[in-house]
Amino acid sequence: MATERLLSPKPAAPTEDLANHALRPETIGEYIGQRDLIERLTIAIDAAKMRTSKAGGPPEPLEHTLLHGPPGLGKTTLAHVVAKELGSNLYTTSGPALARGTDLVSHLTRLQPGDVLFIDEIHRLPTPVEEFIYPAMEDFRIDVTVDAGLHARTVQIPCKPFTLIGATTRAGLLSSPLRSRFGLNHHLRYYDHSDLALILTRSASLLGLRIDSTDAIDAIARRSRGTPRIANRLLRRVRDYAQVRAGGTVTTSAVTEALELEGVDHLGLDELDRNYLRTIAATYKGGPVGLETIAATMNEDSGTLEDVVEPYLLQIGFLARTRRGRSLTQASADHLGLTLVLPTATTEQALF
Ligand code: ADE
Repeated sequence: MATERLLSPKPAAPTEDLANHALRPETIGEYIGQRDLIERLTIAIDAAKMRTSKAGGPPEPLEHTLLHGPPGLGKTTLAHVVAKELGSNLYTTSGPALARGTDLVSHLTRLQPGDVLFIDEIHRLPTPVEEFIYPAMEDFRIDVTVDAGLHARTVQIPCKPFTLIGATTRAGLLSSPLRSRFGLNHHLRYYDHSDLALILTRSASLLGLRIDSTDAIDAIARRSRGTPRIANRLLRRVRDYAQVRAGGTVTTSAVTEALELEGVDHLGLDELDRNYLRTIAATYKGGPVGLETIAATMNEDSGTLEDVVEPYLLQIGFLARTRRGRSLTQASADHLGLTLVLPTATTEQALF
């Protein structure tokens, strides 16, 4: 299934998180890419630390921070880096894990001044929990209702000044009251090839890999869809291949052969991407065609196509999304070796 594909930007399994843990940058100095974001975050962290040392009291927390962007770009990694730079503890949970407001109490009451609470997939926070979190974010206070009916009353429990870091792939789904309570708001972008090459070089050295040229690293970077999680996953596949078939050295041909074997082409497209593009080309004359129609033709889930196939195709200009549906572009037709009479829809204003 699509969700298990080598090129999925989502974690493949809990074991992958463990494998990636060793490759994660720990400090802001080790973090590669996202330069503007890193600069603005560094200033905010340094300012909070300077105010703390001037006041001589307990640490002043960093403002609540919202990190948004596609999966696999390092939102969780960044939360760990921020906590480390602040010299604070990081506690992690996620929107779907917090079913009731009271689920938050244990998280909030154990926080020490300046600690960081990280909530992944914060757009999936149920509304009652969201309302519970407002006084905690604004006044460092938790309002708990005890008893019921006539005897119901609200008890206020103070919590220590802390920083909430929320991460989301769907910033648009956040309610505006929640969004407005974040003082810092950062978007993570897809990484360019040179940053991915630096990340891969760093990972290869941490894994003790022998690489014979920068071309070999570039060949992996070009297939990594702008996403460090995919880059590190491809590197692990190449490592296995090189160990078994190429005498242990990662060469450009080992990269090409290993990833061809996995069905990944030189631009980082796999069978599912090519199938999706061919469906639009062959069945719908290049589009425009609605997502649900494509999904039904391919016998795939439309959510999967929208979340894990379309973002990269849109980003590299292989797909146009218009009011009338999805259309191929000249670039994707060329890549597939197709001759298409492209409809005018591809030049309509894209939806985003
Ligand atoms: N590993 C994964 N993402 C990284 C990044 N942004 N910088 C350094 N190493 C990484």
